[in-house]
Amino acid sequence: MSARYQFSGTTAVAISASIESGIRTGALPPGAALPPVRALAAELGVSPATVARAYRELRQRGVLATAGRHGTRVRPRPPVAARRSVLRPAPLPDARDLSRGEPDPRLLPPIGPHLAALAADAGPPVGYSQAGVLPELAEAARARLSADGVPAGDLTLTGGALDGIERLLGAHLRPGDAVAVEDPGWANLLDLVAALGLRPIGVPLDDEGPLVAGVAAALSAGARALVITSRAQNPTGAAVSAARAEELRALLAGRRDLLLIEDDHAAELARVPLHSLAGVTGSWAFVRSVSKPFGPDLRLAVLAGDETTVARVTGRTRVGAGWVSTVLQRLVLALWGDPAVDELVRRAAQSYDLRREGLLAALAEHGLTAHGRSGINVWLPVPDETSALTALRDAGWAVAPGALYRIAAPPALRITVSSLAVEELTPLAAALARAIHPSPEMGFST
Ligand SMILES: Cc1ncc(COP(=O)(O)O)c(C=O)c1O
Repeated sequence: MSARYQFSGTTAVAISASIESGIRTGALPPGAALPPVRALAAELGVSPATVARAYRELRQRGVLATAGRHGTRVRPRPPVAARRSVLRPAPLPDARDLSRGEPDPRLLPPIGPHLAALAADAGPPVGYSQAGVLPELAEAARARLSADGVPAGDLTLTGGALDGIERLLGAHLRPGDAVAVEDPGWANLLDLVAALGLRPIGVPLDDEGPLVAGVAAALSAGARALVITSRAQNPTGAAVSAARAEELRALLAGRRDLLLIEDDHAAELARVPLHSLAGVTGSWAFVRSVSKPFGPDLRLAVLAGDETTVARVTGRTRVGAGWVSTVLQRLVLALWGDPAVDELVRRAAQSYDLRREGLLAALAEHGLTAHGRSGINVWLPVPDETSALTALRDAGWAVAPGALYRIAAPPALRITVSSLAVEELTPLAAALARAIHPSPEMGFST
């Protein structure tokens, strides 16, 4: 694709602008290879140093990635707005799409009745001077977090979990600092880390959470922050167990220099208990989103933490976006307070468990071991992602390539089970088994 793109510019600024423009229009899609520095310099009639400067600037902003002998490429989700279809090529029209990591919209509680009730009782308009976290929402959030053992004396709100993580990393770290992230880990977090100019250090994990030795190695390598997914880890479904939490607490105890961020994005949807590390380090934040149980469009997360950390996030929000809309806060409060909504969330969680466990069992019948302790995804190690994806596509299934989520972890596929029907489990497992172990070619001599 890049071979056909007409790069332009004779200064580093103009060359990087031309690359960005290629990304915006889709001519340079995610993953596209850029020409080697010398080749592009010769094509444009400039010195290699000029092209190298353009590439470096785009790398520091998380637009490009350089992977050794694989050369320089456009990152999977560069922080440059492109048409949505460019960011994620649509699967074939008839494919069954299990690639998106979304909750099933049919299992989200309807917000219409609560919106109508809010409309009927909108109250006076809220201006700049009264805005902030509604005391009644703070109280309800505190009760919910305390019930799970999270000390929530200080808390604030952000526009979702990732917004909270961005504000935390922005307030505590500087470009070039290292941040320890799970490997495999959530693709959007890896992209955010790159966009902030931070250095990711991958921490391996198993079904019980990050490996203690991996966290210790990341700390020795100079990580200034550690991001852990409490439950429904994306992409593997791991959940921090009681035993792992205890070992991690022992390792992290008293680390005053480390910012510990726990992402509890699945919240009420995760039916495994929470084992939080909150409070073990001097700087910490526990972020709980409403996206997965109540709907991704609500864009609200509760962020609890130590006094300084919460004050930094609140203060930084105040000088920028301001606050999370009071209208949205009242809607979330209404959803939290409705027993019928509780029951729908409970049923959704149960149904995700059935689908995930059903797929794991169907794969086991083919001798395949996959992962998925909690949440809406199953992670299936494969020998080769590209050939498995191609075979699956030919069989009518779209799943996500593990490459989006990996730093040094071995190849795998991420299969989102949230919308799977029971009747699909057997054919899907069979297609996955065939995609991984294709039957020998007919007609080949023995
Ligand atoms: C690990 C992880 N964190 C957070 C989120 C969602 O966060 P937000 O609250 O920003 O919607 C997701 C969504 O897929 C996720 O996988």
